[in-house]
Formats: sequence, structure tokens, C-alpha cells
Amino acid sequence: AIKKMWGGRFEAAGAQWVDEFGASIGFDQLMAYEDLEGSLAHVKMLKHTQILSAEEADQIIAGLETLQQKLAAGELKFSVANEDIHMNMEVLLTEEIGPVAGKLHTARSRNDQVATDLHLYLKYRLETVISELKHLQEVIIAKASANVETIMPGYTHLQHAQPISYGHYLMAYYQMFKRDLERFEFNKLHTDISPLGAAALAGTTFPIDQHFSAKELGFSAVYENSLDAVSDRDFVLEFLSNASILMMHLSRFCEEIISWCSYEFGYLELADQYATGSSIMPQKKNPDMAELIRGKSGRVFGDLMGLLTTMKGLPLAYNKDMQEDKEGVFDAVKTIIPSLKIFSGMLETAKVNKEKMLAATENDFSNATELADYLATKGIPFRQAHAIVGQLVLEGLKTNTSLQAIPLARYQEIDPKIGADVYEDLKAYVAVKRRHSYGGTGFDQVKRQIDLAKQDLAK
Ligand code: ARG
Repeated sequence: AIKKMWGGRFEAAGAQWVDEFGASIGFDQLMAYEDLEGSLAHVKMLKHTQILSAEEADQIIAGLETLQQKLAAGELKFSVANEDIHMNMEVLLTEEIGPVAGKLHTARSRNDQVATDLHLYLKYRLETVISELKHLQEVIIAKASANVETIMPGYTHLQHAQPISYGHYLMAYYQMFKRDLERFEFNKLHTDISPLGAAALAGTTFPIDQHFSAKELGFSAVYENSLDAVSDRDFVLEFLSNASILMMHLSRFCEEIISWCSYEFGYLELADQYATGSSIMPQKKNPDMAELIRGKSGRVFGDLMGLLTTMKGLPLAYNKDMQEDKEGVFDAVKTIIPSLKIFSGMLETAKVNKEKMLAATENDFSNATELADYLATKGIPFRQAHAIVGQLVLEGLKTNTSLQAIPLARYQEIDPKIGADVYEDLKAYVAVKRRHSYGGTGFDQVKRQIDLAKQDLAK
């Protein structure tokens, strides 16, 4: 085995399988770009504070820039023997510029280095997550605008409850994704802090300037406490929590899409690009993408639980356990970004079967509340009205008669105050249209929500 960078106080070389077990290069090379960026900011700070001479610093800067080009060209080779991305980069830098490379690690530890890399990595990915979420919101708003007056059954317990506007339904998800967006925006605040300069745990005696390196890296702030700086993974846990809640929302939406594409519902038909066929059953059109997103929520929840469990017993400051922080984040990032993309495309291109939705509200007694409300406005106490309508529903179910098919004479036997206008109220379209209460499914309210949402997004 080769001599380790930290091998001074060791006599025996480690076994290869021990190296392999301890190495993170297999996955932390995903932060190669951020690692170089962090090193560049660090060496520029060392130059600025005259901890290194301008000449030495410039040699290191040039070497790091060469590595950046090689990285972009796919020319860098990493090895398990060099353990992680940080030491691999230092070895590669030494190959470029010789022993002066060894000065880069002045006033720095891998502990603040890895934390810096991870902050940068997540900060960049958060931008993509946020822009994909905004795109999804735009898709929802466009679909909702086109479906303000599309009537469908609203459900509780998956039983027909009251008719609603499909636009209203869609805007409910808009609100959830809006909160998701706010959570990720908040997450940005905790990610946008530089740990660089905390060194191993205690800070350093070198006259460093963390504000300088933080500014170089585009961080808005610097950690106030060096122990916290190298031990904090809250920003990652926040991300994984936010990602989990987002996936939970997507998964619920997918669940409904999957149901609605079934023969029994038939409310939606997915575009061919977002559906798959069967190798044996020629008629099939399966909502695989929706199922996969629903399924992938499980791995993101797992990423969150994994890191919470890893962190919960760790004493301050750095512990090697924390090397386990990365794969979960990488996994969550590579799960939620494509999930958002696929979901947006799938929703945008899905065909809405308005007739089927409306038809589902016609013989389902979901206008029973309308009738009870009608009676209540005629002065009958709501509880009594509820009981009367319950009776009528029971009769209707037995005789296969909808509420709108009950003759006026029968209604007037129940209460002479019931007039012919009751039939208007019993129409699903009217039931939805009239729900003007703030945040209700009335067309005016759905339009109000859409207008507000458009204003939000324009911000
Ligand atoms: N590869 C390590 C990690 O991902 C870098 C930090 C190593 N620090 C240490 N003291 N061993 O956590």
C-alpha cells in the first residue's frame, strides 16, 4: 500500500480491504467541482492574508485551475488508496505542481473542507430543486386555469362527498408545493453559511480571514462557532426532511393519477410518452412513471431516517460516521429532481376527461348537502334537514332515483316551502359555482387562488 498523507505516526500500512471500507472516493467524487472551488477560495485567502507568499499561492491557484480543466474534460483519475476527494485532489495537485501543493492545507482540515464542499454542493442543487418546483407550479396553474369550471366529485374516505372544481383540486396541490418551496428557500439560509476556517474543530492560530473565503465562495455568512461548523449536518437533515415532504406530496398526487387512469375512474389519460405498455397484454397503458415516483418516496424517507440515525449519538466534533452523510443526500438529489421533471411533464400532457368527471357527479347523491342547505335556508334547522335528506337518499337508493329526479309533489309533501328552484341547486355545476366562501371551490374563489398564485410566481 502507498504511504498515506496522514501516515507519519504509523508503522504498518493498512490492509487494502480496510482502505476500501474507509474510502469515500467512490461517492464523494460527486463533489469534485466543489472541492476545487473550496480549495481555490482557501488559497486565495491564504494569499490575501499573506500566510502564503503571492508566488506560492499563484502556483497553487494555477495548479487548481488546471485540475478544474482536467475535471471538466473527464481527465482526472481518482484512487481508493487516496481515500476521499480531498486527498485525491491534493495528490493530483502535487503531481501538477510539486511539493508546494503541500502548503494548500495550511490552516485547514478535511473537516472544514468536507463541510464546505457539502454546503456548496447542496446550495447549488437547491437552486435546481427550487426552479423545478416553480416549473411544476406553473404547470399546475395553467392546468387549473383551463379547468376552473370542470366539475368532478370531491372525495372524503374515497367516497363521493361534494362536487368540486378540478381547478380547485389542482390548486390544493399548488398550495402544498408552495409550502415545499418555502421550506427549500428556508433551507437555503442554513446552507448558505461557510464552515471554511473552522479547521479541525478549534479554529487556527494562523491569521486567516473566513469572511474573505466565504465571499469568494458566494456564501452569505460564516459559522460563529468552529465546533458547530464542522459538526453541523442540520442543513442536510433539513434538506432531506423537505425532500421527504415533497415526495410525500408527489406520491399522493401520483396515487390519484394512478387511480384516475383506471378504467373505473377514467378521469385522466396519460400522454403516450409518460405511459408504458405490457409485454404480454396488448391493451395495456400503465402509469409507470407515477408509480415510480410514488415508489421513490420510500428511498427519500429512508435517506432522512438514515442520516437522523447516523447523527443522533455523535459527540462533537467530527466523527467518521459523518462520512455516511453524503450518499443519502446525493440519492435524494438525484431522486427528487427527475421526479419533479417527470411529474410536471406527465401532468402537463395528461388529457382530462371532463365528461367522465361530470358524469360521476350525476347519480351519486353528492348533492345531498345542497338539498339539506336548501331546506336550512327555508328555516328548517340543519340537523332536521340532514335527517330529512338522509331519508330521501335512502328512498332514492332503494328506488334508484337521484335527488334531482324526485318529483316536486314529493318534495312538497316534505315541506311546502320547497319550490321548483330546488332543482337548480341540485345541479353539480351550480353546487360548485355557488361555493363562494373564502377558499371554497366556487369558480370566483378558484380564480382568486389562481390570480394570487400567479402573483406569487411573478415575484
Ligand atoms: N471523507 C471524509 C468524510 O466524508 C472527509 C473528512 C475526513 N476527516 C477526518 N478527520 N477523517 O467525512
